[in-house]
Amino acid sequence: MTESTTWLISGTSRGIGLELVRQLVASPSNLVIATCRKPDGASALKALKGSAKGSLHIVSLDTGNEASIRASVKEVDKILAGRGLDYLYNNAAITEGNDSAFEFSYKGLLETLQVNVAGPALMAQVYLPYLERGRRKVIVNTTSGLASIGLDFGAKNATYSVSKTALNMLTYKQAKARPDLIAYVIDPGWVKTDMGGPDAMMEANETVAKQIELAKMVTPKDSGKFYRHDGEQVVW
Ligand SMILES: NC(=O)c1ccc[n+]([C@@H]2O[C@H](COP(=O)([O-])OP(=O)(O)OC[C@H]3O[C@@H](n4cnc5c(N)ncnc54)[C@H](OP(=O)(O)O)[C@@H]3O)[C@@H](O)[C@H]2O)c1
Repeated sequence: MTESTTWLISGTSRGIGLELVRQLVASPSNLVIATCRKPDGASALKALKGSAKGSLHIVSLDTGNEASIRASVKEVDKILAGRGLDYLYNNAAITEGNDSAFEFSYKGLLETLQVNVAGPALMAQVYLPYLERGRRKVIVNTTSGLASIGLDFGAKNATYSVSKTALNMLTYKQAKARPDLIAYVIDPGWVKTDMGGPDAMMEANETVAKQIELAKMVTPKDSGKFYRHDGEQVVW
């Protein structure tokens, strides 16, 4: 019998994270550890248990809270039961919306950096021993096109963009520090979720299908790179 491919994903209560779980648990070869802030209220996520062909485990994890991130390890360790982690998927994020470099909330900036940058950074640190034991050893950090200076999106969404550009640099550093891992950032595109809004160009199932395809294909030469969901490289 072949061993399952193991995935740990953050922010799976709704949006892209929920869709990632939905598509992954459709395959009996995946073991998915779906994490979210409030499992009790995550009804759409819990409902996936009924139809899952793969195994689905729901774990409480707030990426803006150090204690919560550290506490999750014990539970994940039990679920993995000696197996490694093939994929760490840092999907959870928040946005302050359309603010600017001169009109922003200081508190909002700190919170955004905590959830969108410090959270994924600590996640990679605490789950490194599990990735080391994994067969794929992939860290996917979900960024945004707005993180790109080269694409020149102008003054809009300053806080969010600053956080995602920092996440990009974190990923580059992870890739350089550990050439034995594959760490890359993915821009999902503009997606119809609570964050993307109803006017977005893509449904969550479209970006997620492409994201999973890419995640399965990447090799060490893709590490430290900035990809769009469809596999096109994005300028920093
Ligand atoms: N949608 C787009 O157009 C778009 C474009 C570019 C990049 N992205 C990126 O894609 C990823 C997913 O976005 P989305 O559109 O699915 O967003 P979303 O619909 O707003 O969902 C965000 C998810 O993140 C979770 N989350 C927020 N703060 C958290 C925390 N502190 N700890 C744990 N989970 C937390 C939310 O959980 P709760 O239910 O508990 O709040 C929710 O499950 C994000 O990294 C986002 O920046 C999205």
